Amino acid sequence: MQQLNRRQFLGGALAAPLLSGRALRAQDRTVRVGLIGCGWYGMVDVQAAFKAGGVEVVALCDVDAGHLKQSADKVESLQGKRPQTLKLYQELLETKGLDAVIIATPPHWHALQFIAAMEKKLDCYCEKPMAYDIREARAMVEAARKSGRVAQIGFQRRQAGAIRQARDYIQAGNAGRIVQVDVQIHYEAVLKDPTPKAPPAELDWDLWCGPGPKIPYSDQVGHMNWRLEKTSGHGHLVDWGIHLIDATRWILGETSPQSVMAAGGLYQLAGKITTPDTLTAVFEFDKCPVTWRHRLWGAAEYTPEISNGILFYGDKETVFVTDNRWVTIPRGKGKERKVNEAASEAGLLQMADFLDAVRARRQPSCGPEEGFLSTAAVKLAMISYETGSKVTWDAMREEIVGNKAASRLLKRDYRAPYKHPYQG
Ligand SMILES: NC(=O)c1ccc[n+]([C@@H]2O[C@H](COP(=O)([O-])OP(=O)(O)OC[C@H]3O[C@@H](n4cnc5c(N)ncnc54)[C@H](O)[C@@H]3O)[C@@H](O)[C@H]2O)c1
Repeated sequence: MQQLNRRQFLGGALAAPLLSGRALRAQDRTVRVGLIGCGWYGMVDVQAAFKAGGVEVVALCDVDAGHLKQSADKVESLQGKRPQTLKLYQELLETKGLDAVIIATPPHWHALQFIAAMEKKLDCYCEKPMAYDIREARAMVEAARKSGRVAQIGFQRRQAGAIRQARDYIQAGNAGRIVQVDVQIHYEAVLKDPTPKAPPAELDWDLWCGPGPKIPYSDQVGHMNWRLEKTSGHGHLVDWGIHLIDATRWILGETSPQSVMAAGGLYQLAGKITTPDTLTAVFEFDKCPVTWRHRLWGAAEYTPEISNGILFYGDKETVFVTDNRWVTIPRGKGKERKVNEAASEAGLLQMADFLDAVRARRQPSCGPEEGFLSTAAVKLAMISYETGSKVTWDAMREEIVGNKAASRLLKRDYRAPYKHPYQG
């Protein structure tokens, strides 16, 4: 038998699950992609895939016939070939010759679609948050592990130059020991009419609601604005804040919080949205507390970048980081701040990393286990907010300690005939 050296052995061991069931592909092979959820970000992801190159979009799926047509027109204009259009994701997954899917539906659909894709042995780029509840996210991790397919979660800020540079700087110890972190995104939410009305004719609202409760349709809970609706997007921390909580975890090298305590409410937008317009959550991580704050109304008192960024308070320096810029602020009067500009196309890089992983049969940079950890962190904060209690998390057992009301929210009941995928 041929002797393997250590590198070949380790490389083979790591790559082995990914090679199961399909032959190794050439690096330049066209990846045949299907898109599930052709709204705003699905098309952003598809355009990132085209920019990364070597992709053909062979099929599109959406429960809104209008979105399906618009996105098919757009894809045809970009690649010169019209993709198939389908209403049901189960049919898209049957498309002959399909290699990979992008899932960009609202979060309450991610688990069923991701797991079905894994079972069909397809590679998958799944948008954040990974799932609607923590148990779904666990089932997704298990499905990915079992299938051995390539799976990337859409936390593209991990590719942002500013976040990478700040991470290197902090991890090299330049800011000293990080004692506290403040994370915030304040913005004035653009709301639509919350009055219930008949859904648009081209939209299958029952299917859109899927495994979640069938809530009355209004423009405020439909396309795009679902993010501030409790039963689908679950609010600003889960929707947008999760990016910065993920980046914070990644920069600190943290996994799960030991506990979370959140408080806030609907003080300004009551009757218009169903998640807090004002929220503070304190995550106790091993290394230090991380405080999240958001406010979805009012004036932008701070500079825009302070309203959307992370402050790492080290015992030597404070480091501020936002999407395209990071700043070091030394302790002591009169010391000069250093502003570092670092623009990057983070979404393109995250997609390119996925496509490269598909061709090379390797795991991409942000797999389901990482997606699980960030999704669980923000969901625990919402559980704390909704139960008005401190939530203590046993990360090994993935259980909330001594808090029945909070534990019940780890998994939501699915609407019949849908079946929750968690088997635990
Ligand atoms: N990574 C990022 O920075 C980023 C930014 C925005 C959105 N997102 C994520 O992308 C996803 C989509 O968000 P969006 O803003 O594009 O929402 P959107 O409302 O614009 O689009 C969602 C689309 O999914 C369709 N859909 C719903 N149920 C479906 C089903 N069962 N099968 C097929 N299609 C279905 C809807 O009809 C709609 O066209 C979410 O997970 C969101 O969190 C990520």
